[in-house]
Amino acid sequence: MITLGIETSCDETAVALLRDGAEILVNAVYSQAALHARYGGVVPELASRDHVRKLPYLVEEALRGAGVGWEEIGLVGVTYGPGLIGPLVVGVSYAKGLSVALQVPFVGVHHLAAHLFAHRLAHPDVPPPFLGLIVSGGHTELVVVKDWDDFRVVGTTRDDAAGEALDKLGRLVGLGYPAGPAIDALAREGDPAAIPFPRPMLGEGFDTSFAGLKTAAVRWLKDHPHPDLRDLCASYLEAIVDVLVDKAIRAARIYELGRLVVVGGVAANSRLREVFPVRAAERGMEVYFPPPELCTDNAAMVAACAHHRFAERGRGDPLSLSPEANLPLDGWGKGDDIGKADGKEAV
Ligand code: KG4
Ligand code: ZN
Repeated sequence: MITLGIETSCDETAVALLRDGAEILVNAVYSQAALHARYGGVVPELASRDHVRKLPYLVEEALRGAGVGWEEIGLVGVTYGPGLIGPLVVGVSYAKGLSVALQVPFVGVHHLAAHLFAHRLAHPDVPPPFLGLIVSGGHTELVVVKDWDDFRVVGTTRDDAAGEALDKLGRLVGLGYPAGPAIDALAREGDPAAIPFPRPMLGEGFDTSFAGLKTAAVRWLKDHPHPDLRDLCASYLEAIVDVLVDKAIRAARIYELGRLVVVGGVAANSRLREVFPVRAAERGMEVYFPPPELCTDNAAMVAACAHHRFAERGRGDPLSLSPEANLPLDGWGKGDDIGKADGKEAV
């Protein structure tokens, strides 16, 4: 069965075709970064309009590229939260329209659950249980994943998420938006011990708070108006990496999980990918990262999650399913809000 996955929760318009929940036929991502760059962050109204413009063409291109006909699509999966409400409405409305037109079932997907499914695509032989660390622009979540529909959030973002903290540093020193990749590259040339930035909430619980780190950078920049960006990025990133690695490894120990899975845009970071396995190995733990293109927002992960829910759990969603900007992950996948569907009921 071929699943069409659609992702429009923020500033990426993404479309994927997935065969039997595992084989990626197309994974196309159109980034709106250039559109938002001059505002230093995503402008929701502009994002919604651009999704409306690009989505239909991306779907047509994906089908053409894979040599797949409309009639071969057996399932439509779409992110319905969390995210920016306007952009979510665009993707969900399109997906519903397509499921009606093609007479195929429709499945709404949780964006953070989808990030975890990137691991399943990359490492199908490494199933739950594991401790998931989701690090993206809006989220820093530690999740006990007992099964593919059993998520328990044990640590969350108190203020700025890891990616947001990187993007804010980028804005301070003019690295454009999103700044994660540029900081990644500069940090590789710098000294991570050059500036002693704080490690917020290190060793304290499983929640994270990176707003203070940005304030520390603002203060440091006042005294050092002409910084060596390589050292600044390396030191700032090191503080984030230290906190993430410490919390994830402690959580895995407390919840007796020997396996860690790191996903989300920040999981593409080369320093995190270098440090994490070493620190985990010291504790006898294994760490898995999907390849970078499955870490950042994409629709293959959405299609994988949708396929799992429909093909393995027999769940589809009614056309009344409504996007939710703050959809919680805790318990998602087990709730009664999701319609049981045999395929007919879902369309
Ligand atoms: O998961 P994602 O693509 O979108 C959200 O759901 O938020 O994550 C985007 C975040 C941005 O903050 C971006 O700066 C960061 O991921 N990012 C990186 C790298 N690539 C993207 N951060 C550090 N190093 C990278 N290589
Ligand atoms: Zn994301």
